[in-house]
Amino acid sequence: MRIDIFTLFPEWFGWFSQQRHVGNVLAAGSKLQCFDYRETTPLGAGQVDDSPYGGGAGMVMRVDVVDRALEDAYGQAGRRPRVIVLTPSGRIFDDSLANELADEPHLALLCGRYEGIDERVREHLADDAISIGRYVLAGGELAAMVVADAVLRKLPGALGHASSAQEESFSEALGGAPEYPHYTRPPSYRGWSVPEILLSGDHAAIRAWRLDRSRERESEGS
Ligand code: 6GU
Repeated sequence: MRIDIFTLFPEWFGWFSQQRHVGNVLAAGSKLQCFDYRETTPLGAGQVDDSPYGGGAGMVMRVDVVDRALEDAYGQAGRRPRVIVLTPSGRIFDDSLANELADEPHLALLCGRYEGIDERVREHLADDAISIGRYVLAGGELAAMVVADAVLRKLPGALGHASSAQEESFSEALGGAPEYPHYTRPPSYRGWSVPEILLSGDHAAIRAWRLDRSRERESEGS
């Protein structure tokens, strides 16, 4: 898989690429590449934004700047990646959308700064708009990292064990419910005991207990 990130802050992603599960998929042949809007902007002095029509606070990323960055990366015609603009007003990101994106061979994530991105980017250049939650971040970079993290860890080889990502919170294996609780040694710590059944060796009973806890968490909304 290839993920391209369009941003004004490419250096933020150096740290991200070094994280183990990301490094694992990159070593297995996936690619994560950054494109700096300022390097391809058709405007002078590295300009990428402008004041909003209609007035109001802040600055808006220009559509011509984003268009040029995409054109520079992919050419004018031909195959393009699935282009996603990150914006607080987009579709809320969840596990099923992460699965959908993990099936794509090539994604482009467009980060905006300032008050936002000119709406024509969403209308004419992007296939989707995604938000990671109902709050506002200073820019799309952290959201792009969240999306890239959730998608890349689904690829083969990202995690130590192939099964780690199968039965986890919100997965189909758990009917979309949050994951059951985990415990490890010591069996008792300051009087806080691990549930007895997990120490029983009775795999069927453990399985039933875990599914119960998962359903319980779902109904508690936790
Ligand atoms: Cl995708 N961008 C920004 N700036 N804020 C957000 C967001 C995205 N998702 C939630 N808040």
